[in-house]
Amino acid sequence: MTVETPSPLKRIYIENIGAHAGETVTLQGWLYNKRSSGKLHFLQLRDGTGTMQCVVFKGDVSPEIFEAADKVSQESSIQVTGVVKEDTRSKLGFELGVSDFQVLGDSVEYPISPKEHGVAFLMDHRHLWLRSSRQNAIIRIRAEIIRAVRNYFDQNGFTLVDAPIFTPNACEGTSNLFETDYFEEKAYLTQSGQLYMEAAAAAFGKAYCFGPTFRAEKSKTRRHLTEFWMVEPEVAFMDLYEDMDLAEDFVCYIVAHVLKNRRAELEILERDVSKLEAIQKPFPRITYDEAIALIREHGPEEEHKNFPWGEDFGGDEETIISSQFDKPVFIHHYPTEIKAFYMKPDPANPKYALNVDMIAPEGYGEVIGGGQREDDLEVLVAKIQEHGLPLEAFSWYLDVRRYGSFPHAGFGLGIERTVSWLCGLHHVRETIPFPRLMDRLSP
Ligand code: 4AD
Ligand code: MG
Repeated sequence: MTVETPSPLKRIYIENIGAHAGETVTLQGWLYNKRSSGKLHFLQLRDGTGTMQCVVFKGDVSPEIFEAADKVSQESSIQVTGVVKEDTRSKLGFELGVSDFQVLGDSVEYPISPKEHGVAFLMDHRHLWLRSSRQNAIIRIRAEIIRAVRNYFDQNGFTLVDAPIFTPNACEGTSNLFETDYFEEKAYLTQSGQLYMEAAAAAFGKAYCFGPTFRAEKSKTRRHLTEFWMVEPEVAFMDLYEDMDLAEDFVCYIVAHVLKNRRAELEILERDVSKLEAIQKPFPRITYDEAIALIREHGPEEEHKNFPWGEDFGGDEETIISSQFDKPVFIHHYPTEIKAFYMKPDPANPKYALNVDMIAPEGYGEVIGGGQREDDLEVLVAKIQEHGLPLEAFSWYLDVRRYGSFPHAGFGLGIERTVSWLCGLHHVRETIPFPRLMDRLSP
């Protein structure tokens, strides 16, 4: 296919249209939608940065061009040249008065029509679905959240230390590990970069990693992916309470950043931004025992009235707890016995761990898990054995305690849970460009 681009075409992006009022410009993109009435065709052109109405008036163009604009089908790639005119009725504030139009690539029977489709169908066509305005807005907000994550740590003295994806160790229990054959040795896809960040904290003081993590989740919930992105800071000489201070400051920064830079996208998603504007420090902090009391008091079902002490919270319980607050809530001091091997028991009462989860408001579930780590070599060795984990594989991790052990803490924030909260999405499957779920590996 040869595309003619006669010079002096001024090709611009829709997001910059405001700087070109009155000028003749060229847009390249795809036909999002079209309506016609006699002498006029209204083409909605989207170029990835926005959507703009391009008006083809019969009197302004050759009959061939008018005919081509009549025939062009949904999602054909197109090039349009015309004058940028102010138009107070359109959201963008501008429309294009077309003088030239050309189809670059046909699109025959685009599968996603403006009518309603089921989720399974849309998921099967995820590679095309990403073109729709809602999905586009979600992924732009996701990108903005990630920008905020990096800015925050880069500007606050943290060093980015990438953790490996192939690992010899389980970090978050053995029940949901993806196992791979690594040249006749067993390797696992990482569940968390935390163990590596603990080593990094000793090398850099403040470190973070950000990358994909994997859990062979056999449950089909609206909050679980098998592949998700997690950012994990780890700080030397930080305790549980400072860990909460950091998590709170970090989350407030992300929310403020998205509110500042992605208003238009939040509007497309009809997100109630007043709920996000309420996200200000400090966040409430409650203990596991206090959380149990809330579940027993406010849970709608009989089983909640008798929710047993010593059980971990699932999505339902998180929703009950979050409904009591209009901000994220920290739950700390879970029973040591239900938490990962690396959690440090509180020296004041070792029945409880120095761990913390942050639960998002409005029922979006746990967005952060973290806490203070066991820094005593002997205790940690015993814990690894108690949890039935192979000690040899953790030898390198134990070195962090053998050579200058230090109190330290950190956390992991799940990007997709954060996107679902900020965008107001019920299910995490729309929060990542190409979701991996128990029953979905394609596209
Ligand atoms: O609570 P998790 O399992 O904590 C850890 O992995 C720690 N090692 C992190 C650390 O302290 N450095 O996971 C952390 C967060 C959860 O709060 C949640 O937001 C997200 O990761 N997450 C998932 N998101 C989507 N799908 C899943 N299957 C997830 N599992 C955890
Ligand atoms: Mg957790």
